[in-house]
Amino acid sequence: MNKYVIKGGNILSGDVSVSGSKNAVLKAIIAACLTADTVEIKNIPLISDLFIMLELVKEIGGKVKLSGHTLKIEVQDIKSVKIPLEIGAKIRTSSIFLAPLLSRKKEALIPNPGGCRIGARPIDRHIEGLIRMGATAKYDSLDGYFHLKTRGLHGSNYKFEKNTHTGTDTLIMAAVLADGRTILENAAEEPEVDDLIALLNSMGAKIKRSKPRTIVIEGVERLHGTTYEIMPDRNEAVTFAILSALTGGKIFIKNVEMQNINGFLSIFKKVGGDWEKKNSGVRFYINKKIKPTNIATAPHPGFMTDWQGPWAIFMTQAGGDSTIHETIYENRFGYVNELTKMGANMRMYSPIVKNPETFYNFNYYNGEKDHMQGLKIHGKTPLHNAVMKVSDLRAGATLVIASLIARGESIIYGVDYLERGYESFDRRLKTLGADIAKTEEEEFLE
Ligand code: EPZ
Repeated sequence: MNKYVIKGGNILSGDVSVSGSKNAVLKAIIAACLTADTVEIKNIPLISDLFIMLELVKEIGGKVKLSGHTLKIEVQDIKSVKIPLEIGAKIRTSSIFLAPLLSRKKEALIPNPGGCRIGARPIDRHIEGLIRMGATAKYDSLDGYFHLKTRGLHGSNYKFEKNTHTGTDTLIMAAVLADGRTILENAAEEPEVDDLIALLNSMGAKIKRSKPRTIVIEGVERLHGTTYEIMPDRNEAVTFAILSALTGGKIFIKNVEMQNINGFLSIFKKVGGDWEKKNSGVRFYINKKIKPTNIATAPHPGFMTDWQGPWAIFMTQAGGDSTIHETIYENRFGYVNELTKMGANMRMYSPIVKNPETFYNFNYYNGEKDHMQGLKIHGKTPLHNAVMKVSDLRAGATLVIASLIARGESIIYGVDYLERGYESFDRRLKTLGADIAKTEEEEFLE
């Protein structure tokens, strides 16, 4: 496991470019498997999740060629319908291979993507939709695979019971070659879904958003190759924006798509933050006391769950009490224990919610366990160094931000998680003036 050693307190300044979006590129790779032609994808983030997905493309018989930040994928014929457990179980998006496998080979074996550190993350909403489109599905707990078959996917009207970002991605990609029209209702509005729609339409698909949360797909015979540039990463943009505001406000972030982070901008402004746009980018800063506030995460266009970790750090520096109510995942506060080691004054609590079964985006089972979906943060608390361990990707970014503003030298183990979603994070922070070093290290002993 790699570790970061960070000396906090430096003012950071300079330009940083936001990479291509992890949550767009992982689906673009799968979209490329829907055609026998070559698909070229630009603005690829060189993150470990990308390489896992390219392994899977090769496993099903595809050819991949990566040069710099441009990727070429060609899946002339799918030679295997099985996504191997040892690779597939590492990454949530392995389940989306269901779409090209069922569309082109009428069969798919995918490992249960299973829970991870942020929640159960089942794919029941994906499977239900595929069954409506003419697939049969069974989960074999002995081999740990979902077994799906179809005589041919057909169009269907399907309403998601609750928002699902990758569920929407999966059913769009299952519908583009299906026989007839598919109407997806209560479909996700995340901008990464729009990026996928734009890519697929450039490959000859016929997809449009007809009204809010409704997507209409007319099945076509085949898709053709294309060249497509991935959108910038919204999570990176917000991570660097919060970092800038906390370290002197002198970081210019290049290629931020402001329209995709309105859920953050409105709250940032409310607590006293501001930004300046210049040709080289956007500089986020705060020149006054940070005001405390209460937020609840929500599907797009709300405050995104992936932003709440970095936001929690921001609120430790606000003058007063703030809260974060996490409504998307059951276990998204993996960073809290680590931050309390740094002197953060925060504790989890159970917000009173009238109908948790419908209010929460995850599948809520009454009394299953005491859902601590709320975090109370008291500020302003100066943070000091600590030895910490990363629990999940976005919690990792949270610990790095905290260490960069804390007094003293902090050590963060398990930064491999971070590298799943942030390309050369340490190198980019160093160019901004951070005192950060990465070294190989033994597994952190609890
Ligand atoms: C995507 O996850 C992103 N990942 C997540 O980013 C992001 O946090 C999330 O959307 C919300 O925007 C990718 O796109 C690869 P969901 P996804 O399906 O699609 C439950 C990151 O750090 N659910 O919208 O898995 C689910 O468990 C990651 O980049 C079911 O119960 O999110 C979750 O609690 C983290 N059954 C909630 O719904 C289902 O069939 C939202 O899930 C599907 C989802």
